[in-house]
Amino acid sequence: MRAAEIGRRYVDFFAARDHTVVPSASLLYNDPTLLFVNAGMVPFKPYFTGAEPAPFRRAVSLQKCVRTLDIEDVGKTTRHGTFFQMLGNFSFGDYFKAEAIQWGWQLVTGSQADGCLGFDPDKVWVTVLGPGMHPDYPNGDEEAVHWWRSVGVPQERIQARSLKDNYWHMGVPGPGGPCSEIYIDRGPAFGPEGGPNADEDRFLEIWNLVFQQEELSAVRAKDDFDVARQLPSRNIDTGAGLERIAFLLQGVDNMYETDEVFPVIARASELTGRRYGANADDDVRLRVIGDHVRSSLMLMTDGVSPGNEARGYVLRRLMRRSIRSMRLLGYQGEHLTELLDVSRGVMHGSYPEIDEQWQRISEISQNEEQSFSRTLHAGTALFDLAVGQSKAAGSDVLPGDKAFQLHDTYGFPIDLTLEMAAEQGLAVDQARFRELMTEQRQRAKADARAKKGGAVSTEA
Ligand code: GLY
Repeated sequence: MRAAEIGRRYVDFFAARDHTVVPSASLLYNDPTLLFVNAGMVPFKPYFTGAEPAPFRRAVSLQKCVRTLDIEDVGKTTRHGTFFQMLGNFSFGDYFKAEAIQWGWQLVTGSQADGCLGFDPDKVWVTVLGPGMHPDYPNGDEEAVHWWRSVGVPQERIQARSLKDNYWHMGVPGPGGPCSEIYIDRGPAFGPEGGPNADEDRFLEIWNLVFQQEELSAVRAKDDFDVARQLPSRNIDTGAGLERIAFLLQGVDNMYETDEVFPVIARASELTGRRYGANADDDVRLRVIGDHVRSSLMLMTDGVSPGNEARGYVLRRLMRRSIRSMRLLGYQGEHLTELLDVSRGVMHGSYPEIDEQWQRISEISQNEEQSFSRTLHAGTALFDLAVGQSKAAGSDVLPGDKAFQLHDTYGFPIDLTLEMAAEQGLAVDQARFRELMTEQRQRAKADARAKKGGAVSTEA
């Protein structure tokens, strides 16, 4: 089943149950605590906290999301994507655990002929918050267990877990609550028995049902936060990973091989002459390209341009990591705009705004690729020399002074130097690099003060 069809089924299922269909917000949705929208609930946060009255009691959405914290894992696991689409159904003080669980079960296990997803009920596992984790749940989330049992999930496929796994918050102050997750068993070929507690690759989480009940004032870790107050109402906030459901239903091994990502990998493979599936290192690079090209396309569509700070830097890093991956696969020619166009071909059905922005996107991409080529061309000789010197000296560290010089003279961001050094089996002396950066900033400030002082004295 195509990814777009999965999204349509989910939205139709909840629309038929009186949910208002809300279009995806921009990735740059205006929440000062976040760089990008990273969950389907973000645009609804004020309705959960009561800061604004909800214009509807129930909603369903397919939300564009970007998370780049795990960027180093992209391509290496089955399920780390920097851009992904989150399906969600939401209740603002309306229905609660019973309906969320019953409908979740129905959509996941109902037959495809009836418009559902058709997963085998015997392969479904669920998790709930365990006993002694939260003052409101001394015996664990018995209500969630009750409703899972009532739809037919056997007790042995309901696992109790800690706050770390079964309490959801935004990672920053905001609404939160215990959650219950739905997993699909991919079978013994993918890992040991024992449910999600034993292995989260074999048992793949596809959907998180969050029972929002409190507002957090401080968040230090997944399981370490301060509760400010109870929310004005009990809410439902769910997040289902479209890419994960797609890769299970399409019978492929990971999210990069789904219909909305693989065409970019296929084209990159043609250009480089490296066959996908032939070599593990090449496959990781091809998957990085598939992921990063799509994320770059979606970020540029929503108005981001490459830059040296914040959102612009994230985009620049994604574009450059993808260009370097092509080079490491042996392809030196310009290619980024072509690969973005392949991604556009599979994404614009769901996001017509890509076409509206295409002219701007292709211009940005050509400029960025050319400027990065110049950066690489200029800095690589110094980098290679420095690597050679470290190795000849028997050291496995690239000096911080060299990393600083690459940054200062050739515009190599430290992330690029770190990645290139790691490929050569070297670490970078980052402490020395930071020291030199601080000294440089102090010099710049002192210069600015001196110039300002000079201007004042001239006027006087
Ligand atoms: N808000 C639920 C989730 O992101 O998993």
